[in-house]
Amino acid sequence: MTMDLIALDNAIDVTIPVPGDKSLTHRGILFSLLARGDMEISGWLDAGDTRSSLNVVQALGVQLIEEHPDRLVLRGTGHPEEPLVPLDCGNSGTTMRLTSGLALAVPGLVVLTGDSSLAERPMARVIQPLRKLGVSILARSQSRAPLAIQGGNHSGGQFALSVASAQVKSALLLAGITANEPVTVREPALSRDHTERLLTAMGARLKTDSKTGVTVEPGGLHGLTLKVPGDPSAAGFWGALAALAPHRSVNIPSMLFNSTRTGFFRVMERMGVGLTWILKGESPEPWGSVRVFGQTLSPVTLTEEDVPAMVDEVPLLALLATQAPGTSVIRGARELRVKESDRIWVTATILRAMGATVDVHEDGWTIYGPTRLHGASVDARGDHRMAMLAAVAATIAEGHTILEGGQSVAISYPQFFSQYRALCQPPRPEGRSL
Ligand code: S3P
Repeated sequence: MTMDLIALDNAIDVTIPVPGDKSLTHRGILFSLLARGDMEISGWLDAGDTRSSLNVVQALGVQLIEEHPDRLVLRGTGHPEEPLVPLDCGNSGTTMRLTSGLALAVPGLVVLTGDSSLAERPMARVIQPLRKLGVSILARSQSRAPLAIQGGNHSGGQFALSVASAQVKSALLLAGITANEPVTVREPALSRDHTERLLTAMGARLKTDSKTGVTVEPGGLHGLTLKVPGDPSAAGFWGALAALAPHRSVNIPSMLFNSTRTGFFRVMERMGVGLTWILKGESPEPWGSVRVFGQTLSPVTLTEEDVPAMVDEVPLLALLATQAPGTSVIRGARELRVKESDRIWVTATILRAMGATVDVHEDGWTIYGPTRLHGASVDARGDHRMAMLAAVAATIAEGHTILEGGQSVAISYPQFFSQYRALCQPPRPEGRSL
């Protein structure tokens, strides 16, 4: 689908509610598979990726008791069943990687497939450690999906990950719940810790040690009432939109405040962007409202340690850097090469087409700002986050931006373009809410 996008006046002041957090919604749905009892998830994200997780758990025996736009109730038995058919994980790396850990609880064969993007993504990072637990896993060449996993009986073990990946960590911790011994995972930097928090809230015995990492003991889980706050990765697009120009202000009324997820907002503060945070509660995760005010931007230097807390939002920093006077160096983000698209390359291609001066590195970019962006024909390459990045860039570009692949936002943020269009429609009274 092709979209024609135009620049937005600088002075805006809006409240934009964002959908529920994708990582938490996935986990709420997927963990119901090991829980005995009901899992009640309010504020869930209803989008392509989380639907993939919902279909997967149902095929493994979870009952969908209630489904409303704002609330899901799932009932697990704690004993997943062997599925009759291969499980389609769609475009979702989180569904495939977390389910590969959960599948070890299934007494039988679980086959995981996905779309052509997912079939190109690296799976050796989960296959290799899971095999060390004594599990048989077959995969296509170069350890790509489909995966065929023979579950039913596995041991524990200790793992030191070379990459900070919440998906890999989670697959191993979930395997630990149904192993016959504990599983310990150490990562080079702390990735998002939702799995640890939710498993603990569901009755798992978890221990975190700064030297050895996180250890989970085998044991049963019970259901949970989970309120899912707004997704910081979705809010990041509106935060960047506000930060791109002075006199823009965006208020996000509900956003997850877990510090393993708010890195982008904290780095924006480092760049001189105005932020107000109001903590409102625990769900069991901390959440609150955040307001972002555009002010003069300073260039940014980003290193490997900054990346885990903002991995999906790193491309937005590249966009902000095009408006900061000076040289910004964003490195340590090699993982972006193996997301839904090669995001280092796609980001650079979009920004260059719009007039930015960008050097590309294996693990990031050097960006020379400021540059006045102009409209161009750009392609999101089927990647939802690249489509939203281009749309945000278009709000400060001179002339029309023609975006190919905007429909991919259905993966994580189906209402993105209706909110975006409403924002662009005149007249714009101060302080309105979308
Ligand atoms: C996610 C972890 C991250 C992130 C992805 C969601 C999760 O991936 O990019 O969008 O929910 O665990 P990695 O674990 O590969 O870094």
